[in-house]
Amino acid sequence: MTATSPDVTDPTEATAAVVERLYLAMLDGMDVMAVAIGDRLGYYRALDAEPRTAAALAGATGTHERYAREWLEQQAMTGYLRVSDGVFALAPGTGEALARPGTSSWVAPMLRQFAVAAGHWTDIAAGASTGSGFSWAGFGRDMFESQSDVNAGQLLESLAETWLPAAVPDLHARMAAGEQVRVADVGCGGAWAGIALALAFPGVQVDGYDVDGPTVTLANENAERADVADRVRVRQHNLARHAPDAEYDLVLAVECVHDMPHPVPVLTAMRRMIRNGGRVLVVDMKGAEEFVPDGEPSQRCLYGYSVLICLPDAMSGNPDGATGTVIRPSTMDRYARDAGFTGATALPVEHDLWRFYELTR
Ligand SMILES: C[S@@+](CC[C@H](N)C(=O)[O-])C[C@H]1O[C@@H](n2cnc3c(N)ncnc32)[C@H](O)[C@@H]1O
Repeated sequence: MTATSPDVTDPTEATAAVVERLYLAMLDGMDVMAVAIGDRLGYYRALDAEPRTAAALAGATGTHERYAREWLEQQAMTGYLRVSDGVFALAPGTGEALARPGTSSWVAPMLRQFAVAAGHWTDIAAGASTGSGFSWAGFGRDMFESQSDVNAGQLLESLAETWLPAAVPDLHARMAAGEQVRVADVGCGGAWAGIALALAFPGVQVDGYDVDGPTVTLANENAERADVADRVRVRQHNLARHAPDAEYDLVLAVECVHDMPHPVPVLTAMRRMIRNGGRVLVVDMKGAEEFVPDGEPSQRCLYGYSVLICLPDAMSGNPDGATGTVIRPSTMDRYARDAGFTGATALPVEHDLWRFYELTR
């Protein structure tokens, strides 16, 4: 059922249905915030190590026992935990989803990211009344750390092995053969795209570019921890201002064009960064071809991100983009043409929320 369900026409029934739906949505919203708190306090990791009482959980995490007990009971109420004789354990599946980083099943950072945005709801509302924005940097460290964590697992699992061969098979073959290939990771955030390629292909050398200083520090730390810092170097650079003085075989931008305040200048810089025969890949959100209010979950998800994070970000700093998360193929094609490309072609790569484009010169 959706709030606009055509099968509920009686006004009283329609109101009751909407009230019921909003009440359930509120419960889900509370769950998300409680998950974010448990994630921050290390509760899931501690319970993944072993089942615990409230006192044992508080002791293991250095937190207050009374709060720990309330959280444990709330989580048992939602079904993420099981309890027997006062000992709480993760329910099947909870460990993979909330306690174990490094795979695409680890969704804790997505919920954390939602919680960060929710904490700024008054800033977002204020921006919506005046038309001002709320920048990515304004959301703070929790936001860009969550973003880095959200994408790490899936990029490490699939970029080199699955998506790249489907998107640019010839370039992938060169990488797989150990050729020296220079890659630019644009708007790189935690730089997991570049790190994934460097880990998979010993001949790949990556330059990451991001406008945000603390994000650059995090990205270089990630490269260090992944042991590829000699081949993945990230620097602070505003690509909307000018293109770096370097040429690349692959210029890659993952999940960033839609929330850039100045997407066309950045795409223009990307065009200038390709060497002869080089390729430009843009991975961005899979907005439907056109707006259809059918409640389809992936589009609802994109609109949720857009209202809470990406449109406020895209509206910041005298924007010329104001795109939002729901970027459509026609928008990407228009941006590409405005940046001097001949167009943006969607590639045959499967993903629930992302679409892969090649931008051609
Ligand atoms: C949503 S994050 C995506 C990060 C990363 N690609 C990922 O997949 O996790 C978008 C990033 O684009 C960066 N960005 C926005 N405008 C930029 C610009 N003009 N030049 C360089 N980076 C920019 C932001 O600082 C932010 O880190």
